[in-house]
Amino acid sequence: MAKNVKRSWAEPYKMKMVELLKMTNRPQRLKAIKEAGYNTFLLRSEDVYIDLLTDSGTSAMSDRQWAGMMMGDEAYAGSRNFYHLEKVIQNSYGYKYVIPTHQGRGAENILSKAIIKNGDIVPGNMYFTTTRLHQELAGAKFVDVIIDEAHDPTNEHPFKGNVDLGKLDQVVKQYGAKRIPYVCIATSVNMAGGQPISMQNLKEVRAYTAKRGIRIIHDMTRVAENAFFIQQREKEFNKKSVREIVKEICSYTDGATMSAKKDALVNIGGFMATNEWSVFEEARNLVVIYEGLHTYGGLAGRDMEAMAIGIEESLSDDHISARIGQVEYLGHKMMDFGIPIVRPIGGHGIFVDAKAFLPHLKQDQFPAQTLAAEVYLDSGVRTMERGVVSAGRKSDGKNYYPKLELVRFTIPRRVYTQAHMDVIAESIYSVYLKRNKIKGLKMVYEPKYLRFFQARFEQLK
Ligand code: F0G
Repeated sequence: MAKNVKRSWAEPYKMKMVELLKMTNRPQRLKAIKEAGYNTFLLRSEDVYIDLLTDSGTSAMSDRQWAGMMMGDEAYAGSRNFYHLEKVIQNSYGYKYVIPTHQGRGAENILSKAIIKNGDIVPGNMYFTTTRLHQELAGAKFVDVIIDEAHDPTNEHPFKGNVDLGKLDQVVKQYGAKRIPYVCIATSVNMAGGQPISMQNLKEVRAYTAKRGIRIIHDMTRVAENAFFIQQREKEFNKKSVREIVKEICSYTDGATMSAKKDALVNIGGFMATNEWSVFEEARNLVVIYEGLHTYGGLAGRDMEAMAIGIEESLSDDHISARIGQVEYLGHKMMDFGIPIVRPIGGHGIFVDAKAFLPHLKQDQFPAQTLAAEVYLDSGVRTMERGVVSAGRKSDGKNYYPKLELVRFTIPRRVYTQAHMDVIAESIYSVYLKRNKIKGLKMVYEPKYLRFFQARFEQLK
């Protein structure tokens, strides 16, 4: 045996209960995907074997979280669980004021309504679908100020979530700081492939915005995963814990929106946080219209308890290194098969470059949508389009044509095993072998908002 065996990561938990899955055959899957209009969002989950649609709300909760659910205080007002959650958020993230919401977009709605005025501009490190839509519905225009490398799937930049300060400066010069209610900074930029922002870049953005009196609002949906990459890739953070790094990230921002369905290991929940009393006051007033009283925000007491416990668990180094270790295992396996994926491997999933995978399809033939349907057909693995369908239309009705046309293999937290990862990689490889024969799709039904959720397609002849 070799002297220096590389030591593996492994899960810091064991299984106590399992959920049985239905295995399907190809004719069953063909019927299912046709009925779903070639949209993986419209499949019944019963017809899915391994579900990589999203890492949102799909985590396995721990025994402690389930025990916390039993401690739910279901009072309409002033639930004990709210005060626990508030304390955990204040201690772990450092934000002063907290408003629970039913999930991330609830927080985005409240925040956008509270601080955006008609005609405002919101610069951000790439858009996220619901985040941008809420900014637009509140009257703002979103401007992408992420570095160019983020739009190139093969570029190996270690921090593709970074802001290009030159681009930001141009936006500020063009529109003036007064029209910019905040810069929107996402940690682990979802649409770029789960790519992190560096602490150094964040500090620079903080210095720049502080001088001009512009807020930073943090989309902290996957902040712990971003912190792990900072620990691994930014030398001065090698010895710091994920928990410490998370707190430092938050300290350079003025408020946050959070979908706790990701990092925080719950099936439902979110919150908005701010350090400003006046923003809190406005948001606290708005939340009663859209979500519920400010001490429950659309959640049951038990949901808030599970979230409080989940946040603590999400900040453990052992948890996060196993989490990212599993994603990287799948990514390397796919690369060994020659599959074109976004590099470096991101935090919450593997993003396959559908333009490189199906170069014979035009973007109007929906290469990523097509590939997601083909993978489902092959093995019952459900993935998601993140390309031209997700990007939607601009306010003038024209399509956005994003440079990235990706299929996302999102890994739920603490749910699947290494053998599942093997099956997934083998499936995409088997589709890869017959890629030249794959035909594109045409859209036959398009809803007005966030069309990727409900659009329907037919196969081109
Ligand atoms: N921000 C980011 C970066 C997200 O990834 C999401 C959700 C949200 C905000 C909205 O949160 O779903 O709780 O309302 N992303 C999910 C996904 C849907 O599959 O990537 P939500």
